[in-house]
Amino acid sequence: MSDTKPEERTYDEYRTIDDLGGWRRSHDCSGLSLSDLGARVCLMGWVQFRRDHGGLIFIDLRDRCGLTQVVFSPERNAEAHERAHALRVEYVIAIKGQVRERPEGMVNPNLATGAIEVVVDEWKLLNLSETPPFPVEDRVDASEQLRLKHRYLDLRRPRLARNLVLRHKACRSVRRYLDGQGFLEIETPVLTRSTPEGARDFLVPSRLNPGEFYALPQSPQLFKQLLMVSGLDRYYQIVKCFRDEDLRADRQPEFTQIDIEMSFVDEELVMGLAEGLVRALFKDTLGLSLVEPFPRMTYAQAVRDFGLDKPDLRFGLTLKECTDLVRGSEFKLFARAELVKALRVPAGAVLSRKEIDDLTEFVRVYGAQGLAWIKVKEAEWQSPIAKFLSAEERAGLTERLGLALGDIVFFQAGPPEVVNTALGNLRVRLAERFGLVPEGTFSPLWITDFPLLEWDEEEKRWMARHHPFTSAQPGQMEVLDTDPAGALARSYDLVLNGHEIGGGSIRIHTAEAQRAMFRALGIAEAEAEAKFGFMLEALKYGAPPHGGIAFGLDRLIMILSGARSIRDVIAFPKTQKAACPLTEAPAGVEARQLRELGLRLREIKQDQ
Ligand code: AMO
Repeated sequence: MSDTKPEERTYDEYRTIDDLGGWRRSHDCSGLSLSDLGARVCLMGWVQFRRDHGGLIFIDLRDRCGLTQVVFSPERNAEAHERAHALRVEYVIAIKGQVRERPEGMVNPNLATGAIEVVVDEWKLLNLSETPPFPVEDRVDASEQLRLKHRYLDLRRPRLARNLVLRHKACRSVRRYLDGQGFLEIETPVLTRSTPEGARDFLVPSRLNPGEFYALPQSPQLFKQLLMVSGLDRYYQIVKCFRDEDLRADRQPEFTQIDIEMSFVDEELVMGLAEGLVRALFKDTLGLSLVEPFPRMTYAQAVRDFGLDKPDLRFGLTLKECTDLVRGSEFKLFARAELVKALRVPAGAVLSRKEIDDLTEFVRVYGAQGLAWIKVKEAEWQSPIAKFLSAEERAGLTERLGLALGDIVFFQAGPPEVVNTALGNLRVRLAERFGLVPEGTFSPLWITDFPLLEWDEEEKRWMARHHPFTSAQPGQMEVLDTDPAGALARSYDLVLNGHEIGGGSIRIHTAEAQRAMFRALGIAEAEAEAKFGFMLEALKYGAPPHGGIAFGLDRLIMILSGARSIRDVIAFPKTQKAACPLTEAPAGVEARQLRELGLRLREIKQDQ
């Protein structure tokens, strides 16, 4: 032993790496309890924390299951204790020792193994670690960029590891349930043609066919329909999908669907199966029973009362239309608007001017010009617009909105799309701001009777709202000529806590009806033939009536785990810029590779 004081020594001489030497783990780091007292055990894991105390060295040993306190005592084994001075966080070790009760006052009731500790007889140093760039613990304030760069360390944090365990359990539950219902798990190609989900494709150049490209599937939509034509009857797949679109907290460029298709079915059968699946999944993962049956709401009602097609029903705050009440108003913005709607926040909510200004900025993102508001005060309405409202208009609003002292009301006036999305999103924001969203509750909701088409402002044409293989409701193809916005589809979405977690439809299953749909969408015969000729051809050979649904697995797990971002439930996610800080993908390629593919890059300006 050296004469230097313990804190001044480096103990480098102890840092030689040992061989595993045939040692085997007897337990994981969450497995021991008072019922194991006296047992001789072998644990392996990472050093979470080291503490020197009263001549003893304590280690919290971590693996993906949990933590166990390990004690090095000079009385038990002086050499093993001395060498333990070399231990640092994230070193990998193996210990053999005996389970004993923790002394009084050292019991940790928050830890599964909190009543015991393992006193070490011998141990091995399996690997060293540099000091990690951020502490491996749940309360970490490192930037997400840094965490993603060292994702393998980030995933050592118990919360993230728990999310991945939950994801695994959910997939296992899905497979078990669907297997029990007679579904076959069938893989479909990843190198394929463009699929019609409405986002941008990721393209892959073909070396063997210069100038030609594969597209990564936005979903296996056409393949699963072809499998129904094949008579395979009930298909599912837990499958990667790729969409080049703007990213948000619940969107990734590559994400996973639980993709399902069934033959000889109508909406009720598909929705029933899907409901059974989600119910089984909640039971198997969280032990929770969801409401039975899931409530349903039409698209029109959802937009009318909540402004969005994915309403979060865990809180109130419904929207009320008041266009008729302010038709002749002095306030020209209201008088002229196609739609005027109000959102009443009940008394008790206090918002400063600064906060209202922030909310005004918030709604601008959804195309709103501004945000009108009133505060109902004792003597008067405090509001920039109060002076424009007549006594009659005030009385009308008071009655319609059920106004009471202390309420705050927000208004939007303008085109319905803007009014609804702005107020619908404001509703969610205010519920979060005022703590109206109950934690740990799950509120599933089916949305039905979606419009068949939606207007694409960029392309200036009507597009299929779900996808062009979705059937119209009976009699609705006829409506298309006169009222394209009013025609309804045989599609359905499943919403959970304000997130769209799944969507599907009953498909068109005759070539004739599919051609009619392409025509209605303004897709020329030649274009339909070029893009989807193989599907039209397949539909000629006895396609059964069929339909299906796809769930966003990542979103579902995000909600189940209480994570705020979809990135917290994906092992190696992409950033908002669709990049991977760990591998630094996407990256440039060698000139030789481009030549092989017959590609040449244009000069790309930095700001493009
Ligand atoms: P849809 O486009 O509605 O339907 O997708 C199904 C579900 O997938 C999830 N999802 C996403 N999750 C994360 N990141 C994304 N970028 C992303 N995009 C979609 C959502 C959504 O509800 N082929 C049809 C299904 C069918 O008709 O059967 C389809 O893909 O939770």
